Amino acid sequence: MARRSLTQGSKVGILGMGYYVPPKILRNSDLEKMVDTSNEWITTRTGIKQRRIAEPDVSTSLLGYRAAKKALRDAGITAREIDLIIVATTTQDMFFPSTACIIQQKLRAKGAAAFDIAAACCGFIFALNTAYHYVLAGTYQRVLVVAAEVLSKVVDWTDRNTCVLFGDGAGACVVGKVRTGGILSSYMASDGTWKDLLEIPAGGSRMPASHLTVDERLHYIKMRGNEVFKLAVKMMAEAGNKAVALAGIECRDIDCVIPHQANYRIINATASRLGIDLKKVYMNVNKYGNMSSASTVVALTEAVKKGRIRKGDRVLLVAFGSGLVWSSMVLEWSR
Ligand code: ACO
Repeated sequence: MARRSLTQGSKVGILGMGYYVPPKILRNSDLEKMVDTSNEWITTRTGIKQRRIAEPDVSTSLLGYRAAKKALRDAGITAREIDLIIVATTTQDMFFPSTACIIQQKLRAKGAAAFDIAAACCGFIFALNTAYHYVLAGTYQRVLVVAAEVLSKVVDWTDRNTCVLFGDGAGACVVGKVRTGGILSSYMASDGTWKDLLEIPAGGSRMPASHLTVDERLHYIKMRGNEVFKLAVKMMAEAGNKAVALAGIECRDIDCVIPHQANYRIINATASRLGIDLKKVYMNVNKYGNMSSASTVVALTEAVKKGRIRKGDRVLLVAFGSGLVWSSMVLEWSR
C-alpha cells in the first residue's frame, strides 16, 4: 500500500488501519446446545451466524494491542512516533489503570499520553472524533485510536435474549494530517434518559461487587432489546442525516456506509430511512456479531481491504449504543 507523508497536509484523516479477532469461532449451532434457541431464530432476527470468542486468559488490551500493531505497520510508523493513544472500550481490563495505558506499555509507546473513552458501541466514532480535534488543533500530530472488546466475559451465557448477539474483537487506526480528503464532518449525541435500556448493573461504585450481585448475575449485560431496536433505527438515521448535512453533501453522494454491526434488520431499516441503496452498506455482522466499539472500525478496515472503499470515496460511519449514545462521521478516503 502506498505510504503518505505523515507530517504535511492541512486536513485530518486516517493514515493506517488494522484489526484483530480471536481465532475461536462460536457458531449458532454451538449456542443451540447452550440455551433454548435456534440457528433459524438468530439468523432471521439478527443476521448473525457466528462470532469470535477470546480465550479465558485473553483480555481487551491484548486484542487492542494486536490491532494497534497492524495499524502502526499500515501507517508505516513506530509506536514511539505516537503522541496520544485513545482506547474506546466497555470491557476495560480493570477499573484502573486505563486500558490505553496497558496498551501503551505493550506497544512500548513511550512519549504518548493515553486515556480511555466510554461510549459503548459509539466508542470508535467518539474516539476518532476526539483524535480528529486534537490533530486539527495542532496539539498532537499522530494519534492511535483503538476500539477493543471482550464482551464474552460480560455476557450471561444462560440468557438467550443477549448471549446470541455479542462477540469479541478489536480494530485500530492512526490519525494524522493528510494532503487530500480526510474527515469532512462529525456528530455525537447522548441521552441518559434511556440509560436503563442497556446496562451492566453491578460492579461499579453504584452497586459494588458482592455475593448478592454475583448470585443475581448483575455483572452481565441486561438489555430491553425491543425498545433498543426501535430507538436504534431512529437514532442511526438521524445521525446519518446529520453528518451528511454537516459535510454539505447529500445521502446520494455517499459511496459506502459503515454502520454499527448490531443487527442486520437495524442496518436495513437505517439504510432505507437514509434512502441509501443497501448495496452501498458494508455488513459483517454475520461473521462477528456485535463487537460494540470495535464493530465499526473492524468493518471499515475490512471494507478497505476488500476494495469496497477507494481513494476519493465518501464514507459514512454511523453508530448507536448504551447510554444511549449515537454518532456519525463522513470521511473522504484519502489513501
Ligand atoms: N432464541 C429464541 N427465542 C428468543 C431468543 C433467542 N435467542 N431471544 C429472545 N427470544 C424470544 C423472546 O423470549 C420472545 O418470546 P415470547 O414472545 O415468547 O416472549 C420472542 O423471542 C420475541 O422476542 P423479541 O425481543 O420481541 O424479539 P425481537 O424481534 O425484538 O428480536 C432482538 C430481539 C434481536 C434482541 C432485537 O430486539 C434487537 O436486535 N434489538 C437491538 C439489540 C441491540 O442492537 N443491542 C445492542 C445495542 S449496542 C450496545 O451498546 C451494546
